Amino acid sequence: MKKVAILTSGGDAPGMNNAVIAVINSAFSNDMIPYVVYGGFKGLVEGEIKKVEPSDLKAIKQNISRGGTFIYSARLPEFKEEKVREIAVKNLKEKEIEALVVIGGDGSYMGAAKLTKMGIKTIGLPGTIDNDIASSDYTIGYFTALQSITNAIEQIRDTAESHNRCIVVEVMGRYCGDLAINAAIATGVEVLSVPEKYLEEEEIISQVKLRREKHNDRSIIVLVTEHQYDVAKLAKKIEATTGIESRSSVLGHLQRGGVPVSMDRVYASRMGNYAIKLLKEGKYSLAVGIIKEKLVSFDILKAVEMKNPSREGLIQIYKESK
Ligand code: F6P
Repeated sequence: MKKVAILTSGGDAPGMNNAVIAVINSAFSNDMIPYVVYGGFKGLVEGEIKKVEPSDLKAIKQNISRGGTFIYSARLPEFKEEKVREIAVKNLKEKEIEALVVIGGDGSYMGAAKLTKMGIKTIGLPGTIDNDIASSDYTIGYFTALQSITNAIEQIRDTAESHNRCIVVEVMGRYCGDLAINAAIATGVEVLSVPEKYLEEEEIISQVKLRREKHNDRSIIVLVTEHQYDVAKLAKKIEATTGIESRSSVLGHLQRGGVPVSMDRVYASRMGNYAIKLLKEGKYSLAVGIIKEKLVSFDILKAVEMKNPSREGLIQIYKESK
């Protein structure tokens, strides 16, 4: 009987738990023995690997509606070093574990691909709020984070409207604007700057002025993806240049926690189940995704190199509908 381990790696994301539960349950259903690795690749190197017993299943199921990852996560840049990975491989082989399902972003996919070359059969599942993995239309955690951002912007809107203010809001996404663009459409954000359509400071300021002077807006939300601006400084500059009272808010890690919404749970469960099906068929070194509602898989190294489709159409929808 095949032994398969699962780990979550990189930034946690709501729905990761559902993927883990699906992998564990599908492994049992397909006569495999599941193991969990606590704490991502770091835990793998430190030997934090535990066999899942059927008697654990009831307690594990409690995590079906919880955010975060109950098998914990970590970032381990040292995993790039071969000697570090050799320890991980030794730990798996000692327990005769042949296969490993890795849930994480593209850094985690790289780690998984390298383990495959060292004799471990790996499958990657896209787990990150950023939606920046091109081999899947949606990543696990994205829908929940988008909802959290939508809620947060609406709350910020209430106070901005009451005080006749401009508020600059920074959201996560790394170098992908999906969270910001879709939150902007969902909440009618007035000014948007994302990696796919970056606005210079002067352009942001002139759009803020226009919203106040031409559209007579009381509340003006400027939404930017992280790594673009120091939003506190930007708000001060807007206030100094336009005379519109301005504030800033970095949403930070509140976007990453919380009860997973149904779509994240369902996609995560489907992909977790598919990972086991692929292993059962003897397939590995693959990144699983969902494209146009269908389960798909790509060579994991090719998946890392794939580019996200253009977001121009979506940005145009935002512009025309605000
Ligand atoms: O990749 C998920 C993510 O939340 C990014 O949006 C963000 O840039 C990063 O992780 C933050 O990571 P950390 O919690 O390690 O600071």
